Amino acid sequence: MSQAHPEAHERRILRTELLWSFGVGVLIVATLGMIVFTAVTRDINPPSNVERIDPKNLHLSGEFAEHNLGTAVASDGSVVTRVIATQFMFSPRCIAVPQGRPVTLRFASPDVIHGLLITGTNVNTMVIPGYVAQVHTEFARSGDLLMPCHEYCGLGHSEMWATVQVLSDQEFRPDGDGRVRCAQR
Ligand code: CUA
Repeated sequence: MSQAHPEAHERRILRTELLWSFGVGVLIVATLGMIVFTAVTRDINPPSNVERIDPKNLHLSGEFAEHNLGTAVASDGSVVTRVIATQFMFSPRCIAVPQGRPVTLRFASPDVIHGLLITGTNVNTMVIPGYVAQVHTEFARSGDLLMPCHEYCGLGHSEMWATVQVLSDQEFRPDGDGRVRCAQR
């Protein structure tokens, strides 16, 4: 008589289901909690501005033209760094940024998907053709940091990296046009 205690059987199913949904619920809460925790305490967020740019001619004119690449200080004191990620280099190869000041980094790719991180910082983004990848950050310590491409982009991928030179207040000196280049050391 397998149908002798249908209610007991159903109760057992219900208990198992509740146990599973409790476990899954704990996992979901832990995952969301981790995302919120790292966002609030470590400034780790996904790069989220959706800003389109035509990859075919971004190097010819406008924001990512060659003369406009690198670091520029605007008249209001804000610091913006513009970099092109292309097979197989970053342009410019060395980026000068100030220590202890907010910096906006803007990246664009004319060819394939690249990615980058700056060692020891919260900077980590993909660079997708057709979009501007934008990251806000602040560099705590002065010194040279490595910025490798971390998305396989072709045979020269492992050779694709740049140097980020974090300059102290005395070293970070904009020229007449507000541009700052790496110091020769
Ligand atoms: Cu660019 Cu890998």
